[in-house]
Amino acid sequence: MSQSNALRREVDAAPVPQAQSFELRPLPGPVGAEIIGLDLSRELTAADFARVHEAHLDHHLLVFRDQRITPQQHIDFSRRFGRLMIHVLHQFHLADHPEILIVSNIVEDGKPIGLGDAGKYWHSDISYKELPSLGSLLHAQELPSEGGDTLFANMHLAYDTLPAALRHAVEGKRAVHSYLAQYGQLQKEGNWRPTLSAQQIAQVQEVVHPVVRTHPENGRRALFVSEGFTTRIQDVPEDESRALLAELFAHSVRAEHIYRHRWQPHDLVFWDNRSLIHLAGGTPDHLRRKLYRTTIEGDTPF
Ligand code: SIN
Repeated sequence: MSQSNALRREVDAAPVPQAQSFELRPLPGPVGAEIIGLDLSRELTAADFARVHEAHLDHHLLVFRDQRITPQQHIDFSRRFGRLMIHVLHQFHLADHPEILIVSNIVEDGKPIGLGDAGKYWHSDISYKELPSLGSLLHAQELPSEGGDTLFANMHLAYDTLPAALRHAVEGKRAVHSYLAQYGQLQKEGNWRPTLSAQQIAQVQEVVHPVVRTHPENGRRALFVSEGFTTRIQDVPEDESRALLAELFAHSVRAEHIYRHRWQPHDLVFWDNRSLIHLAGGTPDHLRRKLYRTTIEGDTPF
């Protein structure tokens, strides 16, 4: 058989993705929609993918219910949106899948199996890099019988409702983002954070981003600061920067901007880090919680 015939046979044998019938249900409140009936273990058709993509831009967060997917399927679906980022804490990568960060409070043989205090402060994932994240996908593996919620704040709304004086004060300003902003504090508060090697520190040098960014796909403006990673506003005195950031942080997380996600078994939540900040609501120490996270790289904020 000629090489080109063999190739044609292989291509013919590759399964053709089939359209799926699924429902999109917007969640009440300022963020999010549920997707019911879509199976992410199957490859999506171009039309199904386009519908999911559009819903993600409209609602900023999608809850895919009941996803029985493997880590590789989680990675494959995430990759359809862009390049995946590898978290600096390699200690908590899933074995053989460095694209997955384990978020968990479980300790085995005296060692944490994942990052137990991930999301203790409001943040946008990996905003401390030159190319911060487009979005993250968190897949429930093991859930506590109480607690363990994740909260999301809509930063487009936060920007739209910013008091005029505050909006004027931050117009055109840029702010410093640092992975180390709360790292020392987190080390004092718990036992989850390893001492970083020189190599790890070199990967997380401070960066500067606009305080207000324009979403590259939906064109809307959003506040882009968070208590987790933003340390100061450039070109204003230190005390003014501190006061401005405190006002911005408090305004961002007003109750009317927030969606609280109460996890159900096998949920996969995909949020837009350009539109939202998020916070782990906390899990009682005696209850186990484990989730797998992939993080998609975005582009330079403007
Ligand atoms: C995170 O910040 O990525 C984790 C959030 C959570 O554990 O709920």
